[in-house]
Amino acid sequence: MTTDDEARPNVARMYDYWLGGVCNLPIDRAHAARVEEILPGMEMLVRFNRGFLRQAVTFMFDQGIRQFLDLGSGLPTATNTHHLALGRQPPIKVVYVDHDPAAVECGEQLLRAVEDVKMICADARRPDDVFAHPVVRELLDLREPLALLMNGLLVFVGDEEDPGGLVTQYRERCAVGSYFAVSHLSDELADPQTAVAMHAMVDSYRGTVGQLHLRDRAAVEALLKGLTPVAPGLVTMPSWRPDADLRFGPSSSADTLGYSVVARLE
Ligand SMILES: C[S@@+](CC[C@H](N)C(=O)[O-])C[C@H]1O[C@@H](n2cnc3c(N)ncnc32)[C@H](O)[C@@H]1O
Repeated sequence: MTTDDEARPNVARMYDYWLGGVCNLPIDRAHAARVEEILPGMEMLVRFNRGFLRQAVTFMFDQGIRQFLDLGSGLPTATNTHHLALGRQPPIKVVYVDHDPAAVECGEQLLRAVEDVKMICADARRPDDVFAHPVVRELLDLREPLALLMNGLLVFVGDEEDPGGLVTQYRERCAVGSYFAVSHLSDELADPQTAVAMHAMVDSYRGTVGQLHLRDRAAVEALLKGLTPVAPGLVTMPSWRPDADLRFGPSSSADTLGYSVVARLE
């Protein structure tokens, strides 16, 4: 870990903090607290997102998917993809991808002793680089269906970078029967006061942890060209196949601040 890592808040480690993980630094906790002040409910939103991940991975496992490519994964902590299928048979293969070297260094250490689960440092906006990575080539078999997770990733990809074209590039590399899971922040359903708070949160990320691009329902749907959403379709984050075991407490303003969807490549 470099001095720069300790001086700058880092989105993967802030996420880890909100989810109760242990891979975060004082600078991350301080910035996360500032964000929570700006947008009360941010931590809940992060938990909704991880709840969706849990539901989506379980669903895809039940559909027979055994290999997972998790793009913009953050740290492999706090019930991330590989934990959800641990102990289930047959075993799964997971490649976590993040562009943040500090997160990847920490992730590699955590996964050292875990079979068939790896983390690589790559820019998910460059599918050719991701698929050419030796770990991806060795662990994943692209002739077989896989799960491609883009949870909380496309919010970091601006329209000028063509996020829909990016999803298409991944789709074209995947076998029929693959599933895509996407979650995305949105201010579309926020009440006016919460919408103002969301934009203040986006401002607080700019220049520290990254530029966020909020999208409405139509814009998120447009990213999924060529994919068929499975029931219940594109819904607010906590509404995607809610699990009675996953208790989030009373409803909050965070309930409607993001969309989730799982879609199949037919
Ligand atoms: C909001 S967190 C989401 C973590 C996890 N996917 C989840 O849903 O709980 C977004 C992660 O995406 C990573 N990220 C952002 N842009 C990326 C890019 N172009 N390539 C790879 N990772 C990226 C960030 O470093 C961060 O760890």
